[in-house]
Amino acid sequence: MNDLGSSLRLTADAAGIAEAARRLGLGQTVAFPTETVYGLGADASDPAAVARIYTAKDRPRFNPLIAHLADAASAKAQGVFDGAASRLADAFWPGPLTLVVPAGPDCTVCDLARAGLASVALRVPGNAIARDLLARVGRPVAGPSANRSGRVSPTKAAHVLADLDGRIDAILDGGTAPVGVESTVVACLGGPPRLLRPGGVTRADLERVLGCALLGPEPAAGTAPIGPGLLVSHYAPRARVRLDAVTVEPGEAVLRFGGMPPVGAGVTSHDLSPTADLGQAAANLFSALRVLDASGAASIAVAPIPQMGLGEAINDRLRRAAAPR
Ligand code: TXA
Ligand code: MG
Repeated sequence: MNDLGSSLRLTADAAGIAEAARRLGLGQTVAFPTETVYGLGADASDPAAVARIYTAKDRPRFNPLIAHLADAASAKAQGVFDGAASRLADAFWPGPLTLVVPAGPDCTVCDLARAGLASVALRVPGNAIARDLLARVGRPVAGPSANRSGRVSPTKAAHVLADLDGRIDAILDGGTAPVGVESTVVACLGGPPRLLRPGGVTRADLERVLGCALLGPEPAAGTAPIGPGLLVSHYAPRARVRLDAVTVEPGEAVLRFGGMPPVGAGVTSHDLSPTADLGQAAANLFSALRVLDASGAASIAVAPIPQMGLGEAINDRLRRAAAPR
């Protein structure tokens, strides 16, 4: 934190990226843009720096963090990649895919960032600003979404500041995140690959590369859950969230899709995609939830969203936003 009690804003030009990298190297917390959502970065090899992430977010320490690397070679040096993990890395990095693999003998991601697990979550983001930043840091950068734990993820610098201004050292403003939902998390831990969290790479694209169906997150009988941090209530606005709404109750704000459900005059509503394009809907999702929440409505009615392509990730986030808190 700087001495004004607010976080330093950096523009994502060469000087701003260099300053962000310098601060990460000193153990500070710096929010940075990726193509999915903004991350809250800290040096993943430095437990004191990683502890600052958990504190700023109020994040439970049993929930491990993703380590971000500038390129696939640096990411592969951190973990043990089986055939499936290698194929996925080669097909989707850089991009919105996180691979959970056994930590390698030379892994520099500290125990705190891994929440004490024997595995490590690795990602090479597609955003050029992020990769430039990561290359300058030259170490893995831990990066959860840059929101208070349990709340809606940020797709703009203003969203990050709304949650974390004064709680983090700096933010690198790289504009709006184009994908809008987080990376897909796939575990490759020896057995068949498992989809731990749907996200920016669709199940269909993953299965095409793997040549087989992805299993779900449920652990094999008698083993511990793989994704300790996949909490049921998450991405939550202040308002209650009512799913699969085909009609609107008095006083509700409405999250629409493809023009549905119809709304009367004077109703606060936002259409995720008037043309029913799931990519556009994903990009707008978190911003729209924030806007509807700010209207002060006690409840947000959400139109049905098709469970195909990016719809799987959108529906996952909406179910968690609607879960009992
Ligand atoms: O798109 C994204 O993935 C963004 C950007 C900033 O990269 N990051 C992000 O991080 O969404 P976070 O912390 O909000 O979500 C990471 C998820 C959590 O559900 C966490 O539990 C899971 O990945 N995870 C991390 N390490 C894991 C591990 N070793 N085993 C299982 N799950 C893990
Ligand atoms: Mg998150």
